[in-house]
Order: sequence, then structure tokens, then C-alpha cells
Amino acid sequence: MERKHLLYEERGAVALVTIHRPDKLNAINREMFFELRDQFAEIDARDGVRAAILTGSGEKAFAAGADIAELATLSPVEARELSALGQSVMEGMARLGKPLIAAVNGYALGGGLELALCCHFRIASDNARMGLPEVSLGVIPGYAGTQRLPRLVGPGRALEMIAGGDPIDAQEALRCGLVNRVVSREELLPTCLAIAERIALRGPIAVRFALEAVQRGLDGGLEEGARLEQALFGLLWSTDDMREGCGAFLEKRRPQFKGR
Ligand code: COA
Repeated sequence: MERKHLLYEERGAVALVTIHRPDKLNAINREMFFELRDQFAEIDARDGVRAAILTGSGEKAFAAGADIAELATLSPVEARELSALGQSVMEGMARLGKPLIAAVNGYALGGGLELALCCHFRIASDNARMGLPEVSLGVIPGYAGTQRLPRLVGPGRALEMIAGGDPIDAQEALRCGLVNRVVSREELLPTCLAIAERIALRGPIAVRFALEAVQRGLDGGLEEGARLEQALFGLLWSTDDMREGCGAFLEKRRPQFKGR
């Protein structure tokens, strides 16, 4: 389905979603949230898709934040509703049952960084700049950036970024664990595709359960997370994929997972 602010393609088992509002550095408006919600619901439902990549259109930006022109017109109640909408769309993306990689190809500021933060992990190009500059507009992050950033880089580093509002460059993002790797602009998509393609070869149910165990474990305590891990571990013994994976190892061949 055609969307106004998103481009979509599939490369084998990998879905590639591109935020496409290049004249506004891919700034995120309300309409785009509905498109993101529908797009990722479709990806979740597509059996043939086993991993996804989110990136931005053009050479300059992943997404330069929430659309400030739209923000400026909101009433307090509308601002709260937009925050709730953005949070629920990003939470849905974070709960995607397939690994979602952010290919950060330039500015990822404000809502743009929050979008990268709700992906499962991030790879950046060397020109990327990432930050939560909301305080310089007199507001705070509204799409759970105050929650996801400290969980990833620790409260001290996150507070410096959130209260200071200044962006950091790709190397600094690598040092503090905000991104997993930094590559050249040319290598960004090939690197993300190679990572996604390797994940796509693994048992899809096992990958989905691994995402769930890690994320729910981080939401709750270690004991609760470990109990969930036990339950998901045991449940995998009911799958054909588990028998295929172990059987293939013992027969010294590559497994063919079917997601069943
Ligand atoms: N919301 C709405 N429009 C935005 C935007 C945003 N967050 N970020 C960029 N744009 C628009 C600009 O208004 C400009 O539109 P115009 O050509 O119609 O005037 C266009 O995108 C290009 O941006 P411009 O500022 O000219 O590019 P630049 O290279 O000089 O600067 C940035 C790039 C990212 C440093 C700058 O655009 C910026 O600071 N953006 C806002 C970042 C921000 O505060 N985000 C958090 C929002 S909560």
C-alpha cells in the first residue's frame, strides 16, 4: 500500500522502511504516526519478513524530530494526546516480533532519536548526530525518550543529553552504547542488510521469544524476567523449528526454519 510519508520495500526476508519527508528533514507529524503504526502492523503479519530496517530519506537526516510547526499549534490537551499517540506507536514498534534495526543516516533529533530508540538496536553512519534538543524549545521529550535513553546509556549520560539538549556525534554515540556500530554513509544500508539477513536465517520463533524475554525482562525485575525466559525456553520444545535446528546440527547440515 502507498503511503505519503513512508517508502517500503522488501529485500528477500528483510523489510526496509524509509521515512520520506525529505523537504522537512523527515520531521515526524501526526499523520506519519498513523502510517508507521499501519506499516509495522503489516510487517508483523507478513510471514515471509523476518527482520526490518528503519532509515530516513536523503543524505542528511534519519528524522530531525517532531514537526515543530505542528507542535506550535497544539493545545495542552492535544499535546498530551500527540504524546500518547507517539508513545503507543513507538511501543508497538518496540514490541514488533521481528528484529527492527535503525539505520541512522544523519540527524536523529528529538522524536527522530526516540524513533531510533524504539528500534531494537542502532547502526549509525559517520555523519550521524543524535540528541534530544527539546529543552531548547522549552519542552521535554514526549515519545518516551526520557525513559528509553537512560535505560540504554545510563541516567548520568542521558540526563546530560536531555538537560543540555546538545547532540552528540556518531563516535560519541558508539562510546556510550547508543549505537552498536559506526560505518561510512555508503556502507550503512549494506551493513544493516547483512545483519538483518543473518538474523533472518535463524529460527524466527526463537528470535521472537528472545526479543520478548530481553524486553519484558528489562521492564520488570531479573527474577520475573528469568521466569519468563524459562517459560519461553520450554515452549520452544513444542516447535518444529527446534527439532529442525537441533537435527540439522547433529546431521551437519544447514537448518531450514519454517517458523512453526
Ligand atoms: N520540524 C519541522 N520542520 C523541520 C524540522 C522539525 N523538527 N527540522 C527541520 N525542519 C525543516 C526546516 O524548517 C526547513 O524547512 P524550510 O526549508 O521549509 O524552511 C527544512 O526542514 C530544512 O531544515 P534546515 O533547518 O534549513 O536545515 P539545516 O541543515 O540548516 O539544519 C537541523 C538542520 C537539524 C540542525 C535543523 O533543521 C534543526 O535544528 N531542526 C530542528 C531539530 C529539533 O529541535 N528537533 C526536535 C523537535 S522536538
